Amino acid sequence: MTKPIIQTLTVVGVGLIGGSFSCALKAAGVVERVVGVDLDADNLALALRLGVVDEAAPSLADGVGGAQVVFIAVPVGSVAAVVAQAAPFLPPGCIVTDGGSVKGEVVRLCDPLMPEGVHFVGGHPIAGTEHSGAAAAFAELYRGRRCILTPTATTDAAALELVRCLWQAAGSRVECMEAACHDRIFAAVSHLPHMVAYALVHAVAGSAEGEENILAFSAGGFRDFTRIASSDPTMWRDIALMNRGALLEMLDRYCTEFTALRKRVASGDGPWLEEFFHTSKRLRDGIA
Ligand SMILES: NC(=O)c1ccc[n+]([C@@H]2O[C@H](COP(=O)([O-])OP(=O)(O)OC[C@H]3O[C@@H](n4cnc5c(N)ncnc54)[C@H](O)[C@@H]3O)[C@@H](O)[C@H]2O)c1
Repeated sequence: MTKPIIQTLTVVGVGLIGGSFSCALKAAGVVERVVGVDLDADNLALALRLGVVDEAAPSLADGVGGAQVVFIAVPVGSVAAVVAQAAPFLPPGCIVTDGGSVKGEVVRLCDPLMPEGVHFVGGHPIAGTEHSGAAAAFAELYRGRRCILTPTATTDAAALELVRCLWQAAGSRVECMEAACHDRIFAAVSHLPHMVAYALVHAVAGSAEGEENILAFSAGGFRDFTRIASSDPTMWRDIALMNRGALLEMLDRYCTEFTALRKRVASGDGPWLEEFFHTSKRLRDGIA
């Protein structure tokens, strides 16, 4: 049996990401006890019933008091507020880490909130589904998937190493990068596509005035493309706001391409359209 590397992990936000981290580490046998904290009492009770956590803490203060590691998996706009609220109760030597999809703002806000002897390590598992809550959690979510850690020049090396070991035990391939670089990359490959999917659903639904439910006619293409528009609205509101700079750059780039496409559709420029689609297909086919 694998030797436990931590006794108590506290997960704040026992949803898909926090719950799956707990399940994965319990399955790997690297944590003895997981304490859950969640604003939603029903979700926390469900997490306990499903065995996603071993204990449900009545408050954040109670939940973090005995933790070696605190994993924060709430919407990114709330991470710093949770850390600030937990800070007075964090025991010396404790490591705080998160799973938020935006890193620059989160690390900038959380690092200075750490009490003496407590360390913060920013993280983002590149895994997920469009489902939310403890019921969506499963131990295999992170298997074979990347996890990005975003240490700064002042991040404690031992804390970084422990967080790396935990993600590896959960099945992830861990990579470190600067928070700003992370935010630029994920604005492009994750945040922009979600914005496009949300807008596409609006555009199509809004075109249906006077018609029967047009969305009911949607086939594979629309459904595949817009699956991610079923993702949690609060989570995506926070991501859009917290990664605003990098996201705006990508939205502008997208508008430029889209405007060019519109112009060539309007002018009936078949060769241009075919070349444009060829290039997209080649790039898309090249993704492993
Ligand atoms: N879903 C994904 O695909 C995905 C992937 C990678 C990272 N993330 C990040 O992980 C984090 C959590 O996402 P999720 O998909 O697990 O969401 P989720 O909705 O499944 O879980 C979030 C949980 O946090 C709880 N919560 C919210 N505010 C809280 C607070 N202030 N204190 C305590 N609990 C609180 C909610 O009740 C909920 O149970 C987000 O920061 C998100 O950006 C999500």
